[in-house]
Amino acid sequence: MKVDVLLGLQWGDEGKGKVVDVLTPHYDVVARFQGGPNAGHTLEFEGQKYVLRSIPSGIFQGDKVNIIGNGVVLDPSLFKAEAEALEASGHSLKERLHISKKAHLIMPTHRILDAAYEAQKGDAKVGTTGKGIGPTYTDKVSRNGLRVGDILCNFEEKYAKAKARHEAILKSLNYEYDITKLEKQWMEGIEYLRQFHLVDSEHEVNNLLKAGKSVLCEGAQGTMLDVDFGSYPFVTSSNTICAGACTGLGLGPNKIGEVYGIMKAYCTRVGSGPFPTELFDEDGKTLRDLGHEYGAVTGRERRCGWVDLVALRYSIMVNGVTQLILMKSDVLDGFDKIKACVGYKMNGEEIDYFPYDITEGVEPIYVEMPGWKTDMTKMTSEDEFPEEFNAYISFLEEQLETPIKIVSVGPDREQTIVRYTEE
Ligand code: GDP
Ligand code: IMO
Ligand code: MG
Repeated sequence: MKVDVLLGLQWGDEGKGKVVDVLTPHYDVVARFQGGPNAGHTLEFEGQKYVLRSIPSGIFQGDKVNIIGNGVVLDPSLFKAEAEALEASGHSLKERLHISKKAHLIMPTHRILDAAYEAQKGDAKVGTTGKGIGPTYTDKVSRNGLRVGDILCNFEEKYAKAKARHEAILKSLNYEYDITKLEKQWMEGIEYLRQFHLVDSEHEVNNLLKAGKSVLCEGAQGTMLDVDFGSYPFVTSSNTICAGACTGLGLGPNKIGEVYGIMKAYCTRVGSGPFPTELFDEDGKTLRDLGHEYGAVTGRERRCGWVDLVALRYSIMVNGVTQLILMKSDVLDGFDKIKACVGYKMNGEEIDYFPYDITEGVEPIYVEMPGWKTDMTKMTSEDEFPEEFNAYISFLEEQLETPIKIVSVGPDREQTIVRYTEE
């Protein structure tokens, strides 16, 4: 068996959580492979709304096994709060949530360092989620990190050493902080973590595949936030692309099957950094209001703009996307005209590829299409799609050279339309 990988193609918040939940009944296992509690994946069903940060979005469908892979960074105190809330709402986790011993631990001092580095950058700040993601991955790569497996042996000593290193850095930055409360909650989180199956997830996933089980890998963030291919330095600190599933779960590249690329019918971004199609007018405000574009974790206003096909073609290329999933098209239901960016004008020249730097001097070239002016939120089959919407998805498929297999017309699990069902 191969794994299928589901990931975001824009700047995150494409709707990954919803689609993982919808697809989970077709899989035996769901696994996260990178990122951490910077993610906020929203799921809605039976009138309930849940936001998941570290726990995979396959946790609500039956008793499927969910795995937090080695590529993830885990904050034990935030994990405890998230897991306890789920348990309290009747979703038992302890038997079916497995955590890699090789996943790195986000320490309280990582969160403080995240804030200190952002403060030091001033206007050039990344606008991080403040969850300690960058400092934790930095420690991983510089071989100073603490891993989940470390809690099983000589933990106090290892923690004290890592904390002292961080405190020396914070002192050199003259950064004032109080760690007492954070540290107390964190230590409680460590004890809580001990109740879970701490596993060698690379063995587990490969053995499952050998036994004929199917695995869905759930990406966090989006390709434009990838540390190598995103709008650097305004990115996150992990590889959000498909290759991240190989390193974040211990999978050979020949184990990758379908690559589902998720895109919104428009585009959003939270935090700082370039965004060529960003709208500062009424249309941008309408997208934010109708799409409820506020961060699932931080509550921050998301910046909104038209869909950027130049960036999407690039994302599809670096991920090897085999099928597209189109989200939130219902947010465009009332628009008279819909725009899509098909190229950039850079220094007076037209280009159709994603350049090295999009920080300055990039002007989008738009194609304008008629809107469908129809409420699509109650539709259940593609036969009901208005003519203009069919024309819009055909245009996207042609531009992106990839089929759109699923269309989402609302936040609920049920508001999902699978196309080409006759296949
Ligand atoms: P993720 O991080 O990729 O899982 O996405 P988020 O959960 O951060 O943001 C997506 C938001 O859009 C959530 O509030 C979802 O409930 C909502 N959503 C998902 N799909 C649709 C859709 O098709 N239409 C509408 N209107 N909302 C959607
Ligand atoms: P999901 O999985 C949207 C953004 C932050 C910031 C940058 C770096 O819900 O799509 P970090 O805290 O990772 O160091 O912040 O990345 N960012 C996200 N934006 N959705 C996310 O996750 C994000 N995770 C990080 O806003 O610009
Ligand atoms: Mg999100």
